This record gives sequence, C-alpha cells and structure tokens, in this order.
Amino acid sequence: MAAASPVITVDGPGGAGKGTISGLLACRLGWNLLDSGAMYRVTALAATKKGVDFADIAAITDVAHGLDVVFAPCDEGVSVFLSGQDVSSEIRTEACGELASRVATVGAVRDALLERQRAFQVAPGLVADGRDMGTVVFPSAELKIYLTASAEERAKRRHKQLIDKGISVNLARLLEDITERDERDINREVAPLKPAEDAVVVDTTVLSIDEVVALVSDLWGKIG
Ligand code: DC
Repeated sequence: MAAASPVITVDGPGGAGKGTISGLLACRLGWNLLDSGAMYRVTALAATKKGVDFADIAAITDVAHGLDVVFAPCDEGVSVFLSGQDVSSEIRTEACGELASRVATVGAVRDALLERQRAFQVAPGLVADGRDMGTVVFPSAELKIYLTASAEERAKRRHKQLIDKGISVNLARLLEDITERDERDINREVAPLKPAEDAVVVDTTVLSIDEVVALVSDLWGKIG
C-alpha cells in the first residue's frame, strides 16, 4: 500500500494567523490546503439559507451531511461554492463565524464533516488549518503546529482586516466576540480547541507572517 501523503496541521484560536500561514505554507510546498473552518462556516450558512433552527441538532446534522460544497484553490486560499454559488465572502462575516462556532459544538456535525476533511489528504501533501486537525482529524500528522497570539493582538489583526475590506467595526466589540468564541471553542465537550500533545506551540503575538512561515518551514525541513 502506498504511504499516506504527509500532513502539517495548523491549529489555534481565531485570528492567530492560521489561514494566512497555512495558505503560504501550502503554496510554498505545492501542497493541498484544507480550511476546515470554512466547512463549519458553510454548514452554518447552508442552515441559515434553509431556515433551520440552530437548536434543532438533527436538522443541522442533516444539513452537514447533505452539503453540496466545492472548495477551489485560489490566490486568497480557497473559494467556496455552495450549491454552485460562490459564497467565499458571505461565509467570512462575523455573523457567520459566530454561527459556525455554534454548529461546531455539535458532535454529530463534526462526525458528518470528518470524512470530507480527511479526503483532502492527497499527494503531494496537505496543510490542514483548524481547531482539531492535530488532535482529532489527522492525529498521525508528521508536523503539528499550534499557533496562538494574545486576544488583544488577534482582535487588532481582525479589525485591520475588516477595515481594509471597507467594513467598519468596533475594536472593543471584536475583542469581546473573540474572547467569547475562544471560550466556546475551548470549553466544548467534543474536539475542544487545545494543542495536541506533540504539537509545537508558536506564539505569533510579536512575530511577522514571514517569520512564522520561515519557522514552520524550517521545522518541516528537519522532518520532511
Ligand atoms: O477558523 P474559523 O474562524 O473559520 O472557524 C469558524 C468556527 O468553526 C470556529 O469558531 C470554530 C469552528 N471550527 C472548529 O470547531 N473546528 C475546526 N477544525 C475549524 C473550525
């Protein structure tokens, strides 16, 4: 049997730079990219479009099982198509992130998305970005990174991203949202956000994007 393609997992809280770092790493290595947060976001969006009650776990789980979703690599990471419609921007709103964090607490939804996530592990390799990539989805990954940064720094980064997109937001409110979402991701019963035991923890608070990419590339160079 052919050896499985290598995987680098990049987990951590929202705003730690996982998306940017994972995209750059995948590009540098010429590997596939899994943005697992986008899967939870698109599940939340599909449920909203269908008018599903978020308290109705069976209905939300049905949505996750029946997702007609396509992830297409693009310069910005991945474009996401839901039932043929490009929803890449729609899933990035704060409101959708909030709903995604809620659907992500449902074990049956996580189970429904598991195989779709594992299907991304194809040659020549995969960079998997999420919360439980190293702990649950790819426990045998060759390299596991846990990216973190202070909540204040993450709120500032998110604020800048949104302002750059012309979206006006309140920094204090963003910090509250980030802290609330961290708590939900860390304290949920299923697949909580935490570093895998064998993960390398990288605090990006005072590191530039280039420094983090160089650091992770060096780590991979020593293994791969
Ligand atoms: O990384 P993100 O902001 O796009 O993720 C959106 C939500 O999805 C986040 O609040 C937690 C959840 N999520 C998860 O539970 N497990 C993952 N592997 C990825 C995201």
